[in-house]
Amino acid sequence: MGGAEHDQSSAPFLEAIVAYKARNPARFHVPGHKGGVGADPALVEALGADALAHDLAQGIDGIDDGPEPNPYSLAESLAAEAYGAEKTWFLTNGASQGNHALCLALAPLGKHVVAQRNSHASIVDGLVLSGGNPIFIEPEYDSELGMALGVDPQKLAALLAEHPDAHTAFIVSPTYFGLTADLEGCIEVAHAADVALVVDQSWGAHLGFHPELPPSALSLGADAVLTSTHKLAGSMTQSAMLHLGSSERIDAAAINRAVRILRSTSQSTLLIASLDAARRQLATRGEALLGETIEKLVVVRERLAAVNGIELVDASFVGRLGVSGYDPMRIVLDVREVGCSGFEFLDHLAGEHDVHPEMASHATVVFVVSVAETDAQLDRLVEAVAATAEQLRREGGPLQPVALLAPSAGCVVPPREAFLGEAEVVLLDHAIGRISCESIAGYPPGIPALLPGERVSAEVIAHLRQTVAAGSRVHGASDSTLATIAVLREERPG
Ligand SMILES: Cc1ncc(COP(=O)(O)O)c(C=O)c1O
Repeated sequence: MGGAEHDQSSAPFLEAIVAYKARNPARFHVPGHKGGVGADPALVEALGADALAHDLAQGIDGIDDGPEPNPYSLAESLAAEAYGAEKTWFLTNGASQGNHALCLALAPLGKHVVAQRNSHASIVDGLVLSGGNPIFIEPEYDSELGMALGVDPQKLAALLAEHPDAHTAFIVSPTYFGLTADLEGCIEVAHAADVALVVDQSWGAHLGFHPELPPSALSLGADAVLTSTHKLAGSMTQSAMLHLGSSERIDAAAINRAVRILRSTSQSTLLIASLDAARRQLATRGEALLGETIEKLVVVRERLAAVNGIELVDASFVGRLGVSGYDPMRIVLDVREVGCSGFEFLDHLAGEHDVHPEMASHATVVFVVSVAETDAQLDRLVEAVAATAEQLRREGGPLQPVALLAPSAGCVVPPREAFLGEAEVVLLDHAIGRISCESIAGYPPGIPALLPGERVSAEVIAHLRQTVAAGSRVHGASDSTLATIAVLREERPG
């Protein structure tokens, strides 16, 4: 990627805050730590004096509010060019802010949208904010691994034909496990129905910057794309980007308004500078750095595959329904043959070897890798996995997966009404048949089993209990012990 209009080797926002700090100006503005001078010394020691010295207020020196182009608008334009977008917005409240903004802009009060049922929780949170009404599409699943794959374009086409009033569809690609959906197919069927396709590419901020990676959703023609830059692309935690494709189906001004009301009036200059720098790195050195890492990972995968009891979720999945590509910057182990759960495997790796994966599921352990990996770190990973497989090996054959939840019957009440409606707290077993006010997920991976507006079923309750018994934590529930749940108060006759 990368365009010719701007110089991708510059980082205007980063350069502007560095220039301000270098002048040693008299700072009679927020933040009150005044470049770190007034901060607790232990904080200065931990973060480094320079980090605090570059933590500036909005509006200083016209860096972000001067006449355009200013350093902020230039940095966003450079990001748009690098990603091949018409327009890019920097986000300082994660990709979550992007999903919230997309829902406000594209799923307004009472309007129907198609949304992948296992989307990140921020999609339903966005619908709570906007009042939009989801029609869920289930992705394909690998029932043996209990792992969601991508959406099948045929299913999307059928659903869009059934719901001609839905003008936007939200799907996720790549998955947490690094598998990409058939985006070309999904974009084709969406556009044939004049529906905007929004792709949550949070796990693929690096896609498009190396030929061996799956293509980016923007390059395939998606209308809007979210990248959680901090996940793999080198920016700081909580920073992300929202990109608009060359779409006539989405009003840029509507997204602009939504992004604005969802951000602080004091956005962190550190987060923004880190986005500017991450874009520069990807655009100018991404291909070389990613190439080196991809090459190293070929050997790492071979070594991991040779460990007794370990299988890899990898390129061999490509071609299955719901999987058209695979991101080699992810290592996903299937540990069932070891005879323990992924949760146990992760706990052992962390507790005994101080090696910390991104997440585990009942059957898998997922490691995020980036261009930061050294040979020594990768050796440490392989050795810890081999030792853990040896130490946890149990007789009795592979572990059985947690049963997949049957497809959701959908929200019988819009998420906003359920979330804001009058609630009562009841014992979990008494909630069967009632409408949930809460979003409850086993975490990881944080995909809600129950959403606000969905009817609570005996099956969902059993699934949540089974997930917790298998080692997941409960995320989003008002009662983390799952003894009780908030449901909509029932209308009493008379
Ligand atoms: C698919 C997906 N979308 C959105 C998000 C939210 O990203 P962030 O943590 O940057 O807010 C996540 C987080 O894991 C995610 O997995």
